[in-house]
Amino acid sequence: MSTIAVYPGTFDPLTNGHVDIISRGTRIFSRIIVAILVNAEKAPLFTMDERVEIARTVFKDYPSVEVDTFNGLLVDYAERRGAKAIVRGLRAVSDFEFEFQMALMNQRLNPGIDTVFMMPAEQYTYISSRLIKEVFALGGRVNGLVPELVEERLRTKVRTGATSR
Ligand code: PNS
Repeated sequence: MSTIAVYPGTFDPLTNGHVDIISRGTRIFSRIIVAILVNAEKAPLFTMDERVEIARTVFKDYPSVEVDTFNGLLVDYAERRGAKAIVRGLRAVSDFEFEFQMALMNQRLNPGIDTVFMMPAEQYTYISSRLIKEVFALGGRVNGLVPELVEERLRTKVRTGATSR
């Protein structure tokens, strides 16, 4: 049976925590659609094109991973794509309340689509895109926490002054 899952998020930027969840997901689902939300933040650090390109490059050797963008309701997008599951990563208890609310709201909006929570490897449980941006902008090291391509792109952003917003 082919089971398609959507892994939605803003991915600004993609972290090794996201990469870990996606690669774990490929062992369970026949296809994982990494769905990047359009216009989630008014001023994202990475443009939509950059985020799509980064994710496509990182997952170029994973035939079951597709990278796409979406706007509007997540469940409507998932339904259009034939997905039966929404994958969300749970890092700590602090994530749970919001994730639980979203999962139940999405279940109410479309009872045919279930949210599946997945835990990243322990070493990624404290990583978030927000912290990565903050630490990097202040001169801290983020190697091992994001894909090398993301690190390179962050360095370019620092050189051009884009991280000092
Ligand atoms: O990476 P994030 O910011 O945690 O992802 C949040 C996301 C994109 C999953 C959430 O904001 C979302 O699903 N937005 C789409 C609009 C929607 O369906 N909202 C109702 C959710 S209950």
